[in-house]
Amino acid sequence: MSLSIVILAAGKGSRMKSRRPKVIHSLAGRPMLQHVVDTSRKLDPDQIIVVVGHEADQVRQAMSGQPLSFVEQAEQLGTGHAVMQCNTTLRPGNDILVLYGDVPMIRLETLRRLVQQGLQENAVALLSFLAKNPTGYGRIIRDHNQQVIAIVEEKDATDEQRKITESNSGILYIKGNEYRALLSKLDSSNAQAEYYLTDVVKHAVHAGHKVSSVVCEDESELLGVNNQNQLAQIENLYRQQHATALMEAGVKLSDPARIDVRGELITGMDVEIDVNCIFEGRVELGDDVVVQSNCVLKDCVIGAGTIIQPMTVIDQSEIGRKNDIGPFARIRPETRTLEKAKIGNFVEVKKSQIGTGSKVNHLTYIGDTEMGARVNVGAGTITCNYDGAYKHKTIIEDDVFIGSDTQLVAPVRVSESTTIGAGSTITKDTPEGQLTFSRAKQVTISGWIRPSKNKQG
Ligand code: UD1
Ligand code: CA
Repeated sequence: MSLSIVILAAGKGSRMKSRRPKVIHSLAGRPMLQHVVDTSRKLDPDQIIVVVGHEADQVRQAMSGQPLSFVEQAEQLGTGHAVMQCNTTLRPGNDILVLYGDVPMIRLETLRRLVQQGLQENAVALLSFLAKNPTGYGRIIRDHNQQVIAIVEEKDATDEQRKITESNSGILYIKGNEYRALLSKLDSSNAQAEYYLTDVVKHAVHAGHKVSSVVCEDESELLGVNNQNQLAQIENLYRQQHATALMEAGVKLSDPARIDVRGELITGMDVEIDVNCIFEGRVELGDDVVVQSNCVLKDCVIGAGTIIQPMTVIDQSEIGRKNDIGPFARIRPETRTLEKAKIGNFVEVKKSQIGTGSKVNHLTYIGDTEMGARVNVGAGTITCNYDGAYKHKTIIEDDVFIGSDTQLVAPVRVSESTTIGAGSTITKDTPEGQLTFSRAKQVTISGWIRPSKNKQG
């Protein structure tokens, strides 16, 4: 059976006190709606439809570049009304799974269970949970045979019904063949004058169908975000889940409460991570990698046995095996280091290759550079790669020694085994194996007197 997923995301979320629509506020580095979309995608649906309304353009923009359909709900007249707007976009005959853009922690396994249940029903299957505090949720009403017969919203419930703790998650599975009939029966004669999607349950029961529920045991999957406080709580939960999974995979974390994984972190054996590190995008740490405190690693691969010292930032780069990086290193996109390279403090590297065993230890900028093996770059060296209009390449061949405070004005080639004297500005290619420098000769002016203020004046 083909599945259409409808994600409701039209609401304003006024309690966020923000100009941005709620569903694009970020959770672990991605819009919360993106989490729902990513989980949805794993169900391999035929289509994913996002119902947008409040600040729809911002939502579309935040979610651009993905196979998604957007349906606009100009006025938010209720969850049922939101799904009705999808009438012409939904592929006929598909079963429908309704999710919420502001319930981002829902797990794939839970959705799979609901889909499995839904496949066996004739009309509707819903996801419920036993709320610790059901206030605000719709309640699941069952008959004396424990069959689900309706969902009653808190505001429409009798005192007796409010005592029921089995609550509606909002997540619902509707069969394609019944969907139109059920939605056409919705009306807004209720306490909130809204078209409640939840009323499909009672209409299905009236039509003689059995409605079943899958009970989600972990209420935290169903946490919704309505304000900044709840968002921070969910972020915290997300952090805990990732930390637990890492420790189960054998990673040593100095403090599981102080690591943020905002994407996918793949780890080898005996990896150690100290406090306050952030991993974004897809990061791979090889065996025995040590990441010390306060590092930010984004979309990068770190080779086995490498140590990343504190305060290092690495972005879209590939670090080789047994490297020693940082402290205070900044490695920018398209950098690649080979084995046993060393990048020290206050060194910035961009779009460059650092060869095997080469060392760039202090206060240096290396950009658009191809560096060979066993090179030593002295403190304060700068590759001048940008002429104001274009970027140019610097080639540094094997076994070069660059004296401190050198400027390499690209395009330039420093040939094999060149030694460059400290304080040089190198504008021309250097010959192999020789000493090249460009500084003025040191002179001493004898009899020179330092200016001083006239005491009488
Ligand atoms: C809904 C359910 C309730 C359930 C609760 C779980 C209904 C009538 N009630 O109530 O049974 O316990 O969720 O959290 O469905 N939305 C739209 N367009 C609209 C209205 C809502 O896109 O016109 C979106 C909102 O942006 C939100 C979601 O639907 O993401 C839920 O809407 P909300 O108003 O929060 O529903 P509840 O009253 O909490
Ligand atoms: Ca809600």
